[in-house]
Amino acid sequence: MTETLRQAAQAHGLDVGAAVAPGPLQRDAQYASTLARQFSMLTAENAMKSGPVHPEPERYDFAGGDLLVDFARRHDLAVRGHTLIWHNQLPAWVQADVWDYRDWQDFMESHIGAVATHYRGGVAFWDVVNEALDDDGNLRQTPWSRGLGSGYLEQAFRLTHAADPQARLFYNDYGAEALNPKSDGLYRLLRDFLDRGVPVHGVGMQMHIPVEGYPPLEQVAANMERLGALGLEVHVTELDVRLPVPVTEDKLAKQAQVYGEIMDTCLAAASCTALVLWGFTDGRSWVPGFFQGWDQALIFDAEYRPKPAYHTLMQRLATWRAPDHTRDTEAEADAHGKRCTNRKVRILLAEDDSVNQKVVLGLLAKLNMQADCVADGTEVLQSLASTAYDLVFMDIEMASMDGIETTRRIRQLELHCAVKSPPTHRPGTAGVQPAAVSDRLPIVAMTAHSWQEYRDPCLQAGMDDCITKPVSYEALRRVLERWLPATGTSGAATQQGQPSAGARAGEAEPGGTDGRPASAGQSGPEETTVWNRERLQQHMAGDEDLIEAMVEAALTSIPPALHNLEEALSRADATDAQRQAHSIKGAAANLFAPALQTAAARMEQAAERGDVDAARTGLSELTRQFDRWRKAVRRRS
Ligand code: G3I
Repeated sequence: MTETLRQAAQAHGLDVGAAVAPGPLQRDAQYASTLARQFSMLTAENAMKSGPVHPEPERYDFAGGDLLVDFARRHDLAVRGHTLIWHNQLPAWVQADVWDYRDWQDFMESHIGAVATHYRGGVAFWDVVNEALDDDGNLRQTPWSRGLGSGYLEQAFRLTHAADPQARLFYNDYGAEALNPKSDGLYRLLRDFLDRGVPVHGVGMQMHIPVEGYPPLEQVAANMERLGALGLEVHVTELDVRLPVPVTEDKLAKQAQVYGEIMDTCLAAASCTALVLWGFTDGRSWVPGFFQGWDQALIFDAEYRPKPAYHTLMQRLATWRAPDHTRDTEAEADAHGKRCTNRKVRILLAEDDSVNQKVVLGLLAKLNMQADCVADGTEVLQSLASTAYDLVFMDIEMASMDGIETTRRIRQLELHCAVKSPPTHRPGTAGVQPAAVSDRLPIVAMTAHSWQEYRDPCLQAGMDDCITKPVSYEALRRVLERWLPATGTSGAATQQGQPSAGARAGEAEPGGTDGRPASAGQSGPEETTVWNRERLQQHMAGDEDLIEAMVEAALTSIPPALHNLEEALSRADATDAQRQAHSIKGAAANLFAPALQTAAARMEQAAERGDVDAARTGLSELTRQFDRWRKAVRRRS
């Protein structure tokens, strides 16, 4: 059987959707079958708007929306609810001219409460507020803003979250796709929301565009990137590409190209997780009724035959490859920090050591995954408040708030719902369920020490598993199989919420304690080895690009650490000296540079004892070992 659009998109972790109406779904078998086969998401084009849903003050009509939700459930489509608060298609009984603050407030509370509660579990994504900004990025003058003032937007999100804590909440608008005053205003608004803990998770970019003169896509990409950097998801929510009549072959070809470029833009942006069209067949589109002289904006013709645009989308999906970031510079890697090919899965990497960051990101990339990186516990908590992650890798010894304390706080916050639980994308269907193993967020400790030593405090704090540094490809893959079994690294899951067999028994991971260079203070032949590159190669599954990136990170991070160490010792600041020595030790361990690791460990121990004199003596040895290792690196290159 030929591959369909939804199958092709699913390979990239992308949902493709269409806005639909309940009437044709009931009456037109071809409409229904095309939707079910080709799309993985649907939006209610009109059926969930306040006018149709709330025909009288005390009466709701959920029939149309229910039909859509039921269809979606039977055919495994995710549902976008559109829209709770909008100034158009308001119920006829709303008396905008005479209502006061209290009337609008009552309407908002009752409407959101009833509708979001009714669709709880059926609607995965809500366009909570639609088109509330003007072209300058300020609050638009509408009956809502006139009635309730600027606070109504925030309140709408809070009310929706209270009614359905699982739904992902979006702000949806047109004209804010590229970089312009409107998208700037929206960006500021949402950043402020996130800072203040307003529950917003995504932005809908409508994209009703003409075939010529549409927003510059490199700006759309930059906008997606900056929204993603806030931890927000982006859905293209209402895409259609209208053609001036009469429609010709050339115009259809140009339309196909535009669809293809938009697909590429979305695929390349980690934040863009769904591409939804405003309809799917030219036989049922809002375009000819609203734009005189324009038509045929969708990807199937009126007889449900795929148009050139459909074929181009399929071709782009078949050939698109995630860019290779293993050669990125540090700054580029940061900028790409949100990119994640397997986008149904969100991993947070909490690690303050740049070499280990490189290791984990590099190994994840081999598995077609990426992670968002943070370097201390406070940032972890902030990230978890705004984004639903599926797994956290947590360095135990981060400088400002360590991994154990951070985990303890996460578990407390989970109790109070202040940490987002993993997304339950399609409740009640056979769709992808990233965090299928546990209903709490899996947290995997990363430690350079033996798991035995840290096992009890880690488990008590609420960690689920452990991976030993230097992290190896095999160890990482096994942890992902255990905790994210539905992500394609498939394998056996452990019992619900239980630490893995390895973690419970305190066993070393392959390439863990048993695969590490000689531990600090332990004497033996390994201790004097400058660089055990073969072991490093084995560990990194022969990935030379990754090894090169790790070496680069160490060459960049160790000299300043040595400099800071020297300064700390001259100030007799043992705590800072310990911190610097610790970071050098971590980098050396990751690189399989045993002599450097040992020298750094001795220095760290001396500083920990407060023995500044011994630490000063150790500094020249540490510097010498770094130089030896650096020479070994140069000899190799
Ligand atoms: O349901 C009534 C029907 O009972 C009546 O017989 C018929 C007579 O005109 O009208 C029907 O309602 C129409 C409705 O679509 C359903 O077909 C409304 O008049 C018409 O105004 C309405 O248009 C919708 C429009 O939003 C309203 O602003 C379009 O279908 C819908 O595609 C469009 O969608 C919007 C998004 O919600 C927000 N973004 C822009 C997008 C396009 O305008």
